[in-house]
Amino acid sequence: MGNSAIHCESLSKRYRLGERPTNSFREALMNRLATLLRRSHKGAHGNDWTVWALRDVSFDIREGELVGIIGRNGAGKSTLLNVLSRITEPTQGFAEVRGRVGSLLEVGTGFHPELTGRENIYLNGAILGMRKAEIARKFDEIVSFAEIDKFLDTPVKRYSSGMYVRLAFAVAAHLETEILLVDEVLAVGDAQFQKKCFEKVRSVGRSGRTILFVSHNMAALRQVCQRGIVLKGGTVVADGEINVTADLYLATVGKSDAAVLLSETPSYYVRDVSISCGGAPVIKTMEQVEVRVTVTAKTDIVEPGLYVCFQTLENMRIAGLDFTDFANVPPLAAGETMTLGFAINDFPLLPGSYQMEVHVKDTARAKYEFVPQSLRFEVAETPVYGGRKLDYWFGLVALNATPQHERPRS
Ligand SMILES: Nc1ncnc2c1ncn2[C@@H]1O[C@H](COP(=O)(O)OP(=O)(O)O)[C@@H](O)[C@H]1O
Ligand SMILES: [Mg+2]
Repeated sequence: MGNSAIHCESLSKRYRLGERPTNSFREALMNRLATLLRRSHKGAHGNDWTVWALRDVSFDIREGELVGIIGRNGAGKSTLLNVLSRITEPTQGFAEVRGRVGSLLEVGTGFHPELTGRENIYLNGAILGMRKAEIARKFDEIVSFAEIDKFLDTPVKRYSSGMYVRLAFAVAAHLETEILLVDEVLAVGDAQFQKKCFEKVRSVGRSGRTILFVSHNMAALRQVCQRGIVLKGGTVVADGEINVTADLYLATVGKSDAAVLLSETPSYYVRDVSISCGGAPVIKTMEQVEVRVTVTAKTDIVEPGLYVCFQTLENMRIAGLDFTDFANVPPLAAGETMTLGFAINDFPLLPGSYQMEVHVKDTARAKYEFVPQSLRFEVAETPVYGGRKLDYWFGLVALNATPQHERPRS
C-alpha cells in the first residue's frame, strides 16, 4: 500500500444562491433576479436558499491510484475537484493533498487571458515551482500536443474555446505534478482530440501519478481507473472497484438518464426512447438488447413506422433497423399512443459509447421524421472473447466466432 496522496475528512461545501462569481452582465442580471425571487419565496418555503454541494465526504486516495468520480449533473463532482485544487474553501471538514496538483477544471484553468500561450506555459510551470530549464524541456511536447504552434505568441483570450482547452489539457498533463485532477475534458473538443486526451490520461496513469478523473463516459472511466467514487446530492454513495461502481451508477440512473427528453416531430409526440438489456440499463455485448420507442400521434397516421440506427459518436452508422421490413402496424388515430421496438439477439456492439438515431414515420404518406435528440448509451465492458479487455484493434462489433485448429499429420 502506497502513502496517502489525498485525504478528505467530513468535507462539506455549502453555496448560497447567487454566490457564483459574476463576470458577465447576463450573470449579474440572473443574480439580481435570483435575489428578488429568494425574497418573494423565502417565507412560503421556509427555505434558506443554500445548497450543500458536498456533504460529509470522506475518503483516502493512495499515491498512484486512478480514481473516477461519477455522478449526475449537480452531484458535486466539480465542487470536489475545486476544493482539492484550493479554488474554493470547504465550509466544514478538511482535505489534505500531498504533492503538486495539475488540474484541468471547468472553471479557472489558471491561464491569464492577456498573456500568450507561451507565457502561460511558463507561468503555470512557475506556479508549480518548476525551474525555467525544466519547463523548457517539456515545452515542445506541450505545444505539439495542444497543436497550437501557430498561435504560441497570441494572447490566449483570442484562442477559440477548443484551442484553449487543448492547451489547458496539455499543460495539466505534461507538467510535473504528482496529482492530476481532470474534470469532464472528454466532453469538449472534437472526437479526435478527446481520444488523444484520453490516451494521455491513460499513459499519465501508467507513469504512477495519482489521477482523479470526472467523466460521464463510463467506458472511458472503466479503461482509465481502478476505483470509482459515486457522488449523489453531494454525498458518497459508493466507493469501490471501477466496474462495480460504474454498473451500480448505471443501474441507479435507470431510464431517466438513458432516455431522450420528451420531444416531438411534425406527426408525433415522442414520449420515451429507451435501450435496455434484460430489463436492466447496463448494455452488454452479445446479450439480448431491447429498444423501445413510445409515441403519441398528433394526427391520424395511416401506416406507422419506426427506424432506429446505432451510430458511433462520430455519427458513423453501424447498423439500422426499419420496422416495416419486419411487420405492418395498423393505423393510429390522433391522440393514440403506441410503443414500437425491437428485441435484438446477440447485441454486437463492443464496449464503448454510442448513440441511437430514431425516425418515426407514416410510411403510407412518405413521412419520415427525425427525432431531434439522439439517445446516447454505453456498452459496458464485459468479457467478450475469452475475457480480456478489448481495445481499438477489435473495432466496433463482436463476431460470433469459433476457433479452428488443424495441422497436417506427419
Ligand atoms: N459557485 C457556486 N455557487 C452556487 N452554487 C453552486 C456553485 N457551484 C456549484 N453549485 C451548486 O452545487 C451543486 C453541485 O454542483 P457541481 O459541483 O458543479 O456538480 P457536478 O460537477 O457534479 O455537476 C449544484 O447544485 C450546483 O448548482
Ligand atoms: Mg461539473
